[in-house]
Amino acid sequence: MRLVLLGPPGAGKGTQAARLSEKLSIPRISTGDMLRDELNRGTALGRAAEEYMRKGVLAPDDIIIEMVRRRAGQADCGEGFILDGFPRNIRQAEALEELGPVDLVLYLELGEEDVVQRLTDRRVCRECQFVYNLRFSPPKVEGKCDICGGELFQRHDDKEEVVRQRFRTYRERTRPLVEYYEARSILGRIDASGTIEETSQAVQEALQFRGLL
Ligand code: AP5
Repeated sequence: MRLVLLGPPGAGKGTQAARLSEKLSIPRISTGDMLRDELNRGTALGRAAEEYMRKGVLAPDDIIIEMVRRRAGQADCGEGFILDGFPRNIRQAEALEELGPVDLVLYLELGEEDVVQRLTDRRVCRECQFVYNLRFSPPKVEGKCDICGGELFQRHDDKEEVVRQRFRTYRERTRPLVEYYEARSILGRIDASGTIEETSQAVQEALQFRGLL
């Protein structure tokens, strides 16, 4: 099964993709995580993407498309995958089509002010990358990961001014994909303003409705 999670920054794509990956036993491919990993390892690719990420604009298509093509070709993607953060514009969507058909695009809808609140309160574990929210899903011990005890940190691009730029980038470059996939009859709209559990439930129902669960 090939799924795409589409939506503004902070809509919960990563949170829902992680849950779905466990439920469906297929990998989650997050282009944002892949870029951050390259950056942490100090690779040329990471350095090439750093400035774009810091500013909250899209990294160059060629880098991203090649990265996804390679990852999707790996053995563990044989039964499918869940794309989180890709495609982000029409060119990337066309490149994805060349890799084969997509079963469903889940569009997580959330407004700008909710996005800003969620992202400025997001904290991530430095060790295992588990994602928390200080307001909605805080860790049991302040600053420490419940799972591995690792230190929690705030992503550089989760500062309010960068979040607002990311939202603008989303509106101008990524939002047109809603019509693109609607025209192909593979778009499922999800109200992402409820709790994590409510959103998971809506995602599950969308998959059941399409006969994918
Ligand atoms: P990326 O890392 O992909 O960021 P994003 O798409 O902006 O998405 P986020 O990770 O911020 O949000 P999310 O929707 O996954 O939300 P999450 O589940 O964490 O991209 C970063 C940068 O990399 C880009 O700006 C760009 O430069 C570059 N890049 C990446 N992909 C690219 C591409 N394809 N092309 C070009 N450039 C690319 O949840 C957010 C917070 O809310 C968390 O704290 C979570 O706990 C909480 N939360 C989640 N759901 C709920 C809920 N229902 N209720 C309350 N809180 C919730």
